[in-house]
Amino acid sequence: MVIKETEEFVRHELGEDATGHDWFHVDRVRRNALHICKEEQAGDPFIIEMAALLHDIPDEKLNESTEKGKQKLETFLESVSLTDSDKNHIVKIIESISYKGGRKTTLESIEAKIVQDADRLDAIGAIGIARAFAYGGKKGQPIYDPSITVRKEMSLEEYRKGKSTSIHHFYEKLLKLRDLLNTEAAKNMAAGRHQMMVLFLEQFYQEWDGQGS
Ligand code: ADP
Ligand code: NI
Repeated sequence: MVIKETEEFVRHELGEDATGHDWFHVDRVRRNALHICKEEQAGDPFIIEMAALLHDIPDEKLNESTEKGKQKLETFLESVSLTDSDKNHIVKIIESISYKGGRKTTLESIEAKIVQDADRLDAIGAIGIARAFAYGGKKGQPIYDPSITVRKEMSLEEYRKGKSTSIHHFYEKLLKLRDLLNTEAAKNMAAGRHQMMVLFLEQFYQEWDGQGS
């Protein structure tokens, strides 16, 4: 069955990754996406599940180049039994949903909106906090440095390469995600997760200043 084959392929490709793009991330995104699909009673669950499972496969950070990543996804999709129309839709969703420093892309299908929401939900809340520091640690970026200013406007290049800290990432991306969600179901799921990050930051600064209890 196509879903099982896809799971195996993704597990194999992402299993060892420690930048926050591991198999468990993909599995959470898949479950979030199917939950949103059910709540909204919208979208094709098969397309949603496939796009969620494959969404990180062509990521430029996990491949030698954007081209190579795209090719990896397409080669896999050619190897399983899918209609051309489903294949094209899955590729299109995956190409359209990445955050890349806040640049807005228009999402054409409800399936794309749902998978994007599901991926974004996994970047916020307790899991999002854990992922931000895991990513920061892997990159060798500091936890926090009060002398570095928060970057408001930045190019994709700056977003990826500029000097920042994991705490800064909350202002540059994570705290913005709640208001960028597409579906009501995802907005409901985001409320508690957003609150969790706000509380975390409050406590973090208290402890930083030596007043934590
Ligand atoms: P996107 O490609 O959608 O911008 P990523 O795939 O880079 O996001 O993000 C993977 C995970 O790492 C996410 O949870 C994200 O919030 C986190 N992350 C990305 N960039 C940074 C950063 N500069 N500092 C801390 N965490 C980051
Ligand atoms: Ni992802």
